[in-house]
Amino acid sequence: MSNLDTTRVQSVAQSPEKVMHKLVSLAKRRGFIYPSSEIYGGLSSCFDYGPLGSEMKKHIKDLWWTSMTRKHQNIVGIDASIMMNPTVWEASGHVASFNDPMIDDKTTKRRYRADHLIENHIEKLRRDGKEEDAHRVSTYYERASEAGNPNKAFYDIIIAEEIKAPDTGSSDWTEVRQFNLMFQCNMGALAESSGAVYLRPETAQGIFVNFHNVRESSRMKVPFGIAQIGKAFRNEIVKGNFIFRMVEFEQMEMQYFVKPGSQEESFEAWRDERFNWYIESLGVSGEKLHWYKHDKLAHYADLAYDIKFAFPFGIEEIEGIHSRTDFDLKQHQEYSGKSMEYIDQATNERYIPYVVETSAGCDRLFLALLCDAYTEDVIDGEPRVMMRFSPKIAPVKAAVLPLMKKGEMSEKAAKLRDELAEDFLVQYDDAGSIGKRYRRQDEVGTPFCFTVDHESLEDSAVTVRYRDTAEQERIDISKVKEFLGVKLV
Ligand code: GAP
Repeated sequence: MSNLDTTRVQSVAQSPEKVMHKLVSLAKRRGFIYPSSEIYGGLSSCFDYGPLGSEMKKHIKDLWWTSMTRKHQNIVGIDASIMMNPTVWEASGHVASFNDPMIDDKTTKRRYRADHLIENHIEKLRRDGKEEDAHRVSTYYERASEAGNPNKAFYDIIIAEEIKAPDTGSSDWTEVRQFNLMFQCNMGALAESSGAVYLRPETAQGIFVNFHNVRESSRMKVPFGIAQIGKAFRNEIVKGNFIFRMVEFEQMEMQYFVKPGSQEESFEAWRDERFNWYIESLGVSGEKLHWYKHDKLAHYADLAYDIKFAFPFGIEEIEGIHSRTDFDLKQHQEYSGKSMEYIDQATNERYIPYVVETSAGCDRLFLALLCDAYTEDVIDGEPRVMMRFSPKIAPVKAAVLPLMKKGEMSEKAAKLRDELAEDFLVQYDDAGSIGKRYRRQDEVGTPFCFTVDHESLEDSAVTVRYRDTAEQERIDISKVKEFLGVKLV
């Protein structure tokens, strides 16, 4: 951009505690996210995406889909059903192992994750400089976590350490019990256990069970990948932080099938590619992204890293990269009785492929993008709120603003809007002062505003105003579409 006048825009420091509150309010007011079924009091951890939210979510999914499928000749996509034969979940280990250890407070009737209570207690001991105590509890906790049934040990730690509920200070604890996160429902007319099916807790299993279908129909050779975007459901007890932890959410997952022995190399390559995607394709600030190596692994993984984002409420996971070994295919082979082997036509080798999984949460990413974009600054002496979205994900790509509501000016503006609307989501706004209209667009992150003014009638040019800098320049009206095409790539 040329002629940038940085003196017009001054940044303003934001308090992280207030940012979430302001974001939730902006998201509802401007049509990004509403509480679900709000007129009935809502439903905990369920949300609806509004007109701008659904548009932006679509951009995120399209960018992911393009980067994972179109840009890789050996990755194809599928869209599997949410409900599957219930044996899938026995084979995958979710019926037996997809559990959280929960503990209830008998007085307040509130439920907590026992492992979280202990982990927070250890952190507090460390913060208080009680390193020896922290080490003692942490060693016992780690041993307990590795045991087959850690419930009794978790309970003993909570009682011995006199751990209290963080919100109420109460500690009238029940025993620790495992709570399965899968939602169960009934298929057919009768609510009998024979008709019980699960809402999938991850999209991955739809890919594993279709391994041979996809391989054969798409003539894929190992290494190859299958990508999928879809809803997943988890009966999360600990909720909160807006759309960070939901019971119904969308995952963007890819399973990459490799020859045993080559999984480490593949894992490293996917780690790099996925981390860079956030920065290069979505414009996320690199300094807000972090790696986290898992010590405590899910039942299917032998190596796992998370990509975490620095949310205002803490550094939290947005994507997991997992080395799933041959666990899932082997399990499905055993439970279905169907071979999951791959035969290498060139060498005649037979093996069950290993899998490297990239698993991103679309809603968490959406929240990360909202948090990353939220900006308060002062422009020409006036405070403003701006969503500094990358133009690629901004829901509204451009606004067309005629200075006058009627006459030749508005006709020219409407013509420009119609032309742009063929390719982009464009808003037309002729209400209020031009300054107010700019602020409205800044608040939803519209990267470019085109103003049709008196001069436009003479020179067939419009003023383009850049969101971030408020810089303005003249551009021929016939070049606006081309201009946007270049800027939005
Ligand atoms: N197939 C592997 C798997 O599901 P995961 O780490 O449990 O791995 C992957 O989940 C991603 O799904 C997470 O990084 C997160 O972004 C998203 N996710 C998981 N649980 C979620 C929830 N309750 N609400 C919103 N997103 C969630």
